[in-house]
Order: sequence, then C-alpha cells, then structure tokens
Amino acid sequence: MNETRRPLIAGNWKMNRGGASGVALAGELAKLVSSLPHVDMVIAPPYTALAACAHECDGTRLEIAAQNVHAQQSGAFTGEISGAMLVEAGCRWVIVGHSERRQYSGETDEIVAEKVEASLRARLVPIACVGETIAEREGDRTLEVIERQVRAFIDIIDASDVPVAIAYEPVWAIGTGRTAGPSEAQEVHAAIRGWLGRKTTALASRTRILYGGSVKADNARALFASADVDGALVGGASLDAASFGAIARAAEALVPRAHSNEPA
Ligand code: PGA
Repeated sequence: MNETRRPLIAGNWKMNRGGASGVALAGELAKLVSSLPHVDMVIAPPYTALAACAHECDGTRLEIAAQNVHAQQSGAFTGEISGAMLVEAGCRWVIVGHSERRQYSGETDEIVAEKVEASLRARLVPIACVGETIAEREGDRTLEVIERQVRAFIDIIDASDVPVAIAYEPVWAIGTGRTAGPSEAQEVHAAIRGWLGRKTTALASRTRILYGGSVKADNARALFASADVDGALVGGASLDAASFGAIARAAEALVPRAHSNEPA
C-alpha cells in the first residue's frame, strides 16, 4: 500500500447471489464499510441484483460494479447490457476483461480495450483485469503477457481523467486456493506501474492496481503490505460478509497513518 492511493477492495460475486440473498449481503456490507473510513469498497453482483443492491446501498459508502458491459451504446444486441444501462441501474464501476470472460466468452485484448473505452464513455470506472495462465508463467512469459494485455488499453486510460483500476489476477490463482506470493504479486504490480509511468507519472500514481486470485482474510495482509498492491479483487471470499469484511479490515489496518485522503 502507498499513502497516495486509497485502498480499494472489490468483491466479484460471479454467478452467485443474484436475488434476495445478494441484497441481504449488500446490506450487511453497507453497514460494515462505515467502520472502515480509509477503504473504498465495491461489490459486483450479477446483473439481476444490480438495481436492488444499489438501492440497498444508497446513502452508504458501498459502491456497485457490474461484472461486464457491452462495447456498444445501444442497438440490436440481444442479451447485452450497455454502460448507460448500468449507470441507470446504480453502478459506478464495471469489471472488464475478467479471465473467465476471456476464456469462456472469447474476449480478446481488442474487445477488452473497446469495453474499457465504452465504460469510460458511460462515466463508469473500469476495473480492467489482466493475468497469465500457468503455462505462460512456467514458460517465463508472465511479464510479456501482462504487458501485451495492459498495452491494449493503456492509451485509453491515459486519455481519460477518471482514475481507473487494474486487477492483476494470475489465472492459476483464481478459485484454486493458490495465491501469488507477496513478492510475485509485487513484481508484476511494479512492472505494470512502470509501463503506466512511461506514459505519464500521473497515470502511474493515480491508477490503483489490485491483486486477485484466492485472496482470503489470512493472506490479505501480506499481499497488501507490498508497495504497489492497492487492494484486492476478491471472488469466493466476497460471498461472505465476515470474510470480505476481514479482508477490508486488513487493508484499513495497513493504511499509512499519514494517509488523510477523504472518501471519494
Ligand atoms: P477468487 O476469484 O478470489 O475466488 O480466486 C477472484 C476473481 O476471479 O476475481
């Protein structure tokens, strides 16, 4: 963590809690976040629960993300949802290019870049995901793959005045119980910040880089202790208020005492 960036803890509910149980969880977390003044907390329910969760969180510091967005603004795209619709449903954020969408829905770097652009156009804050597979890591290609994925959208985020988030999620760590060690995560986060910094120092310092992949209450603190890890994108552990709350508390506890930024 670094004193210039507020920690961001985002929960990716994936295809879970799309109804009343999601709204109840949102309500619990909305209360919990009031005791964590230095942490920004976001949840990404399924589409079917977005508006109800947004309503539940109204007036609290818990913010809502979608898990995906379509690149076009409107039209004949059966089954798709636009950025403007997400804003109307109460979203402020959107997860873009999650590895499950790259893997199961054919999202390429180009499509991810289009979606980052569409999100910003709609005034949504993208959480753009990048990550290498186990074969790429074992082939010593991690940084090459992550650089290609980041370069696909770097000009778009540089041109925007909205501070976006990037989530580094090694594919082999998602849902597997295996996490990157703090130094493995820090190495990739520092590389990403370096590529951002070659654009502008402002881009490097304003972009929050989250780690994702089997983040739990018991490994969060060590990950957050790294200088370039600004928070987490949490899957499984975000479905339970106690464990997601414990991860957010680990971030709050590490906020440098000098940190005085007010909530966004
Ligand atoms: P996980 O998922 O925490 O269950 O590994 C993370 C993610 O896919 O964003």
